[in-house]
Amino acid sequence: MSDPTQNAAWQALETLAEGAADRRIDGLFFAEPERASRYSLEAAGITLDYSKQLIDDETRRALLELAAAQKVVEKRADMLAGRVINSSEQRPAWHVALRRPDDAPLYEEVHEVRHAMAEFARAVRNGEWRGFADDAITDVVNIGIGGSDLGPRMICQALARRDGPQPHFVANVDPADLDDTLARLNPATTLVIVTSKSFGTAETLANARVARQWLIDAGAGEHDIARHFVAVSTNREAVTEFGIERMFEFWDWVGGRYSLWSAVGLSIALALGDDAFEQLLAGAYAMDQHFETAALGENLPVMLALAGIWNNNFLGLTSHCVVPYAQRLAALPSFLQQLEMESNGKSVRREGAPVTVDTVPTIWGSVGTNAQHAYFQMLHQGDLAVDMDFILPLSDAAAAGDPREIERVANCIAQAEALMTGRDRSALESELKEQGLSSDALEHRLAARSFEGNRPSNMLVLNTLDAHSLGALIAAYEHKVFVQGVIWDINSFDQWGVELGKTMAGQLVGELSGEGKAGAHDGSTQALLTRVRRGWQA
Ligand code: F6P
Repeated sequence: MSDPTQNAAWQALETLAEGAADRRIDGLFFAEPERASRYSLEAAGITLDYSKQLIDDETRRALLELAAAQKVVEKRADMLAGRVINSSEQRPAWHVALRRPDDAPLYEEVHEVRHAMAEFARAVRNGEWRGFADDAITDVVNIGIGGSDLGPRMICQALARRDGPQPHFVANVDPADLDDTLARLNPATTLVIVTSKSFGTAETLANARVARQWLIDAGAGEHDIARHFVAVSTNREAVTEFGIERMFEFWDWVGGRYSLWSAVGLSIALALGDDAFEQLLAGAYAMDQHFETAALGENLPVMLALAGIWNNNFLGLTSHCVVPYAQRLAALPSFLQQLEMESNGKSVRREGAPVTVDTVPTIWGSVGTNAQHAYFQMLHQGDLAVDMDFILPLSDAAAAGDPREIERVANCIAQAEALMTGRDRSALESELKEQGLSSDALEHRLAARSFEGNRPSNMLVLNTLDAHSLGALIAAYEHKVFVQGVIWDINSFDQWGVELGKTMAGQLVGELSGEGKAGAHDGSTQALLTRVRRGWQA
């Protein structure tokens, strides 16, 4: 039975959710002093504390029964073994093969490409690989979008190290992105990586053409392009046609949003060194092993997924906010938006029947502590109920004495606590009464200042923000997404919804450039085209 709602466990969870409506998370701590440890897990250097979820033992049992009934164990085995699980494209989704160590390969070519990347990265980093004017490479520009951008961008930002060429990421077809980036760079010392799984993405190719012209304009000959341009793709023919000789290959079974572990991570190896890239893979592999072997109830990605299912499908929290308390993880929420929403934003089940439950929630967020001074007011007192993931990397002992570090950590933990406890009316009342307020003023202040809390959150603590723990964290989220997709019975590995917009943009490019025929459009689209032409003529 793959329709999740037909499981007895789903129905049991619905009943439990009705009972949960007037329960409090902090009440669960009073009932069970050991709760924090019984609702925490450790894997690959990461601690997940999900004790601030409105989940008790009965709920957890029912969630685990739901996972078992939806065959998470069997489907996990299929995914790990590289069987075809992306049914609409008839492919495996085998990103786990990308992070296997050399002595335990699943797919030999992965290791061949990885070695070629390592060698290339070493040559660029030590100055053997030189540009058209015989200079060493100082800057690397990755041109790519979506999965060909967000992962490496986020990792390079998170692990900022200053011992290799400076990485730059250009995704947007808005000329400001590439033009502003190139304006800061010297063509003679810049290497461009054109990263595109399909090598057919319009934005990426448009930017790549401009970057090539920039090099030619700076004095590079056509034969010099090979020293400044490499490609990462699955489409050798299109790469050759574009005029790039050196291609680092990956394979159609690597989904774009799961591809940072492949040659798509070339910018990471170049900027941070191959050792950092290897550590990233090792961290992901450690999480893969945990995911493969740990019992469902002890399994960090599985519990992350189940807490999300409980909140989303049973408590009606269809908004999920991720707040890393780490400046260097500023790009993580955007990465997770693609990972979760492009994977699980689906309304049909694997075999085509409509999904009858909510699938992925809206994923959003930004770094703490900044977020506290923007939208946390809404999280505490607004009427849109949201569940949260707090991500807290610890720093080493030396940095831990820095008062700013103490502030950072204290704020993260305090916000999770405040969201759960809220501000109790009676405690506030005694505080305010001491101020001798009139009863009207007292009532007014009580109404404005008290709030119920009971907002659930996960806390993910990393030993430190290094390549290993980051690899493990990202792999945990990937597996969370997989488990949720299995429970919802959807294919997490296709993205047909984005295709229509791409086709329509192609048609409009033809119309706006005057090279294509006018299409039949709705009134609004037609009026907008007229408005744009008027603007361009002005
Ligand atoms: O946004 C749609 C999408 O197909 C993503 O899945 C993918 O990561 C991105 O476009 C880029 O695609 P490509 O790597 O083929 O250029």
